[in-house]
Amino acid sequence: MTVVYFDSPVSDDERRRKLFGGDLFVYSPTPASKALVAFAREMAEAAFAPHFPPDAQHHLAGSAYVDVLATLKPAFINHPRSKELVRDILVELGVEPEQTYFDVPRLRTMTSDYLNAGLTLQFHTHRDTWFSAPMSQLNYWMPIYDVEEANVMAFHPPYFDAAVRNSSRDYDYARWVAYGRTSAAQQVDVETRKQPELEEEISREPDIRVITPPGGILIFSGAQLHTTVPNTSGRTRFSIDFRVVNRRDVEDRVGAPNVDSECTGTTLGDFLRTTDLAQLPAELIS
Ligand SMILES: [Fe+2]
Repeated sequence: MTVVYFDSPVSDDERRRKLFGGDLFVYSPTPASKALVAFAREMAEAAFAPHFPPDAQHHLAGSAYVDVLATLKPAFINHPRSKELVRDILVELGVEPEQTYFDVPRLRTMTSDYLNAGLTLQFHTHRDTWFSAPMSQLNYWMPIYDVEEANVMAFHPPYFDAAVRNSSRDYDYARWVAYGRTSAAQQVDVETRKQPELEEEISREPDIRVITPPGGILIFSGAQLHTTVPNTSGRTRFSIDFRVVNRRDVEDRVGAPNVDSECTGTTLGDFLRTTDLAQLPAELIS
């Protein structure tokens, strides 16, 4: 059974427990999520001017489009305002700030039947935990413009606690940081970086797709098997996501069950405390 909770008033402790069991939480836009979406729109609209960002893919050549993203994405990710608004969202959603750590918010784009490599990579079916995420990681996701069933992600609930054959054994987070991530802007047409992927066919029906208005917040476990569905909507999807861990969960090794992740290393060093942006202690990370 997979439960989707809407605007649930449960505590963060109870919410994490349910998320680690495979449930999904969805919230209406909050004041801070609306502000984060407005901030992202402002940056994207300036970067793609005079084009409306979801339609800009039809007006720019591939290399010019990638050039815009190569500037826009890091500018958004590294902007202090982005981190402040993530902190505000977490507080609005009732987390305990002293115990809660987040990774910088990513700005993602998924073009419609257009580029499919590097900065516009359309992810295949995966769990984030195949990419060295801790089993206690929760993902927060929100659309920046309107989305529809053809340009969101699909969850595959039967596989939440069932192993699928995958190539995560070949993924090493430290190697990715040293090489893979920095070369993303050079990968325009063909994706050559090694990514964990499925090594068997899964049954894709039924799946769950959550459609919210811009700034609506979807929270799910990093262990959920999910797919960015091929975008056939004719418009580029713009979204924001960020990862969150609770320090007590990391200390107690509480989280979703690990059914099939065999990667090396951990992303824990990337997380920043909500109150002061401090990292987790090195001993805990190791
Ligand atoms: Fe993912």
